[in-house]
Amino acid sequence: MSETAKLELDGKVIDLPVITGSENEKAIDIRKLRAETGYITLDSGFGNTGSCKSGITFLNGEKGILRYRGYPIEQLAEGSRFMEVAYLLIHGNLPKENELNFFEEKLTSFATLPEGITNILDQFPADAHPMGVISSVISSLSAFYPEFLKSDLTEVDKDRAIAQLLAQTKIITAYFYRKSRGLAPHRSHPSLGFAKDFLNMMFFEEGKEVDDEVAKALDVLLILHADHEQNCSASTVRVIGSSHANIFATISGGIDALWGQLHGGANQAVLEMLEQIKQAGGDYKQFIEKAKDKNDSFKLMGFGHRVYKNFDPRAKIIKKACDTILDKLGVDDPLLDIAKGLEQEALNDEYFKERNLYPNVDFYSGIIYKALGIPTNMFTTMFVLGRLPGWLAQWKEMREDPDARIARPRQVYVGESTRNFVSLKDR
Ligand code: ACO
Repeated sequence: MSETAKLELDGKVIDLPVITGSENEKAIDIRKLRAETGYITLDSGFGNTGSCKSGITFLNGEKGILRYRGYPIEQLAEGSRFMEVAYLLIHGNLPKENELNFFEEKLTSFATLPEGITNILDQFPADAHPMGVISSVISSLSAFYPEFLKSDLTEVDKDRAIAQLLAQTKIITAYFYRKSRGLAPHRSHPSLGFAKDFLNMMFFEEGKEVDDEVAKALDVLLILHADHEQNCSASTVRVIGSSHANIFATISGGIDALWGQLHGGANQAVLEMLEQIKQAGGDYKQFIEKAKDKNDSFKLMGFGHRVYKNFDPRAKIIKKACDTILDKLGVDDPLLDIAKGLEQEALNDEYFKERNLYPNVDFYSGIIYKALGIPTNMFTTMFVLGRLPGWLAQWKEMREDPDARIARPRQVYVGESTRNFVSLKDR
């Protein structure tokens, strides 16, 4: 007999089906709750709400496990390339060589931006925040690829739209960086590989070549950011996509959700915090005290996570990569020492221990981006490049799920009861 949970309401007992995931995690299926009882559930921030069944990413926050399509993140970071991981997330399996070639060829066919898009990019002020620019330009792509606007895209069009976004988001990002610095844009050479092509477009100088190890380091960072199941931006993508909005509107919304400093924007906020600590003479203890003070809105950026309550496996890999890359580039960044000191202090502090607050993926990534020459206000756009395959995979899975419905949560209304209208002159 299938497992059920019993709920007693108004003296009546109802059985709710229990759903078991492939890693034995349990959920109570409340889909019929309101229809049968009139009750809804209240779960602000959706901390206990499963919004879908998904076969893309598994994470166990207590044990610090993260797997894409079953493969441990540590193994993927060690042995694969970002494009293989993108294929894996989107199509479900690691690609064979010919499948990967075909996938990359599709991206290559989108290696040039429509002229209308470069015209739009040219109009932004040089000091515009790159996240706002990228989000608007991704939305603007809808005007140039009308064939991808249909709500029921064919398999072929879906694959092409995905390839187009993967190829062009990195070009848009690098194009705006160069334009905002008065540099001529440099064209994409996809045969260099995703990370190297991006760095080449960003920092191209005659006679200079992007170092393979540096490109590899960026590739690993992109892999670590590629998906993270139903986080804020992925859920935004699913919510927007659930209305059958087009893929550009959907991804643009994901970018906007990522921008916030409680989510992907934390990588920029971490670096700004470390700079602030440096300005204050390196006294990180004072910042720990501020973070613990409930009358102060300051939080230790790059610390804490809704799901990880032990450690973030991505942070472990990134911390190691940080040492290697700074060493390789011969960069001696005092911010790295401040970050390590801050981490150590926080990990030994009762406040952080009691609340299971650990460094997350954003704590060390900014120091690496800075060493690579990426400006602070572009850190979150780097996250966009990494997370794009995850969003696309989540969108695809949702649109192909026969059980998917438009996202439409309920609420508990706590406002005024009926009042009679009073005209303006009598108020
Ligand atoms: N500094 C100080 N205290 C913190 C921090 C922090 N960074 N994070 C959580 N806390 C405290 C909270 O104040 C709360 O304390 P209380 O129990 O005394 O009220 C307790 O720890 C639990 O925290 P919540 O806010 O309930 O945790 P939630 O799951 O809602 O938020 C979040 C998670 C947003 C990541 C939070 O930890 C945070 O703001 N961290 C800093 C921003 C950050 O690094 N974001 C990136 C996350 S990773 C990503 O999105 C890519």
